[in-house]
Amino acid sequence: MPYEVQGVVARGKGEAVTLETVVVPDPGPGEAVVNVQACGVCHTDLHYREGGINDEFPFLLGHEAAGVVEAVGEGVTEVAPGDYVILNWRAVCGQCRACLRGRPWYCFNTHNAVQKMSLADGTVLSPALGIGAFAEKTLVAAGQCTKVDQAAAPAVAGLLGCGVMAGLGAAINTGGVTRGDSVAVIGCGGVGNAAILGSNLAGARTIIAVDVDDRKLDWARRFGATHTVNSREADAVAAIRDLTGGFGADVVIEAVGRPETYKQAFYARDLAGTVVLVGVPTPEMTLELPLLDVFGRGGALKSSWYGDCLPSRDFPMLIDLYLQGRLDLDGFVSETIALDQVEEAFGKMHRGEVLRSVVVL
Ligand SMILES: NC(=O)c1ccc[n+]([C@@H]2O[C@H](COP(=O)([O-])OP(=O)(O)OC[C@H]3O[C@@H](n4cnc5c(N)ncnc54)[C@H](O)[C@@H]3O)[C@@H](O)[C@H]2O)c1
Ligand SMILES: [Zn+2]
Ligand SMILES: [Zn+2]
Repeated sequence: MPYEVQGVVARGKGEAVTLETVVVPDPGPGEAVVNVQACGVCHTDLHYREGGINDEFPFLLGHEAAGVVEAVGEGVTEVAPGDYVILNWRAVCGQCRACLRGRPWYCFNTHNAVQKMSLADGTVLSPALGIGAFAEKTLVAAGQCTKVDQAAAPAVAGLLGCGVMAGLGAAINTGGVTRGDSVAVIGCGGVGNAAILGSNLAGARTIIAVDVDDRKLDWARRFGATHTVNSREADAVAAIRDLTGGFGADVVIEAVGRPETYKQAFYARDLAGTVVLVGVPTPEMTLELPLLDVFGRGGALKSSWYGDCLPSRDFPMLIDLYLQGRLDLDGFVSETIALDQVEEAFGKMHRGEVLRSVVVL
């Protein structure tokens, strides 16, 4: 019997989201139905609502979630009913070129549930990032469920499902930040602050937070920034160089997604250093750099998809570090809200008042 639940739906471009009855099918082969316990409000949900991702309205929003598996379909062995899981939006296939090269975090063929969730009148829903977790239950591919220690509260655990993992991973996976490094992070929203926390965890010696908003810089100090720069008041590149003996940082993480901040990252990096782009640009943006500088400055220019994480490896490990008091994930939960408050949360996010609003069910 399909389930009927309440879910947050974006019906059209720019329209306020509404709470609707959502029909969730029983899980088919390789699928799982999850009782969602918490789901964070991410910028990408707002991008979907604004029509910035694609036109496949209506969307069932929400993708940063934790919950308990309710039922699994035929052939599912990785999770079972009752398991406490974080949902991920990159379930690796194990068979594509990247997986076969032994680099599954780059998987080129990640997958979602095959069946569709729908509105009560049969209209098919597009789940955000193949998840759709602003709902009491959701249908996903079983590989999108990663089991973690249930001692971590859902509002905190779910954060690893998107933005916080992207930021932590940009530092510790893509950037390879290690003990003694100097790091600069440009843009200190949820993602940038997670990159600061990841750099702190990895033992970076100098962590410079750059933002245009002093409130974000205050949060950055909590997560381990050793210095802060308001780039409305000071030149970001000059300030980062000043704070690193005149040379620039070993690793610079761009967590805004704009050409001008990418250029700052490029020039604020020491010779042979690494730039990590984790901010997501829009299609019309282009970048112009002297090719001689690209060559002459050496090092690595990298992008970070989902923090180059491997959910099965990273989620349980990070939850354990959190439970041991070594990873401040609580600091990202600015407020907990109900399912019918997502629209208000979009406003707070837009005004920069929160790192994360988290729907708790
Ligand atoms: N790579 C991934 O897998 C992945 C995953 C999730 C989110 N993201 C992307 O990461 C980016 C950040 O996400 P977020 O949730 O932290 O968003 P956010 O809006 O909370 O944070 C962006 C921050 O950048 C700051 N900022 C804006 N313009 C700036 C400038 N010119 N100089 C310095 N700081 C500036 C803002 O004040 C804000 O603090 C977005 O582009 C988002 O789409 C990427
Ligand atoms: Zn693959
Ligand atoms: Zn997200």
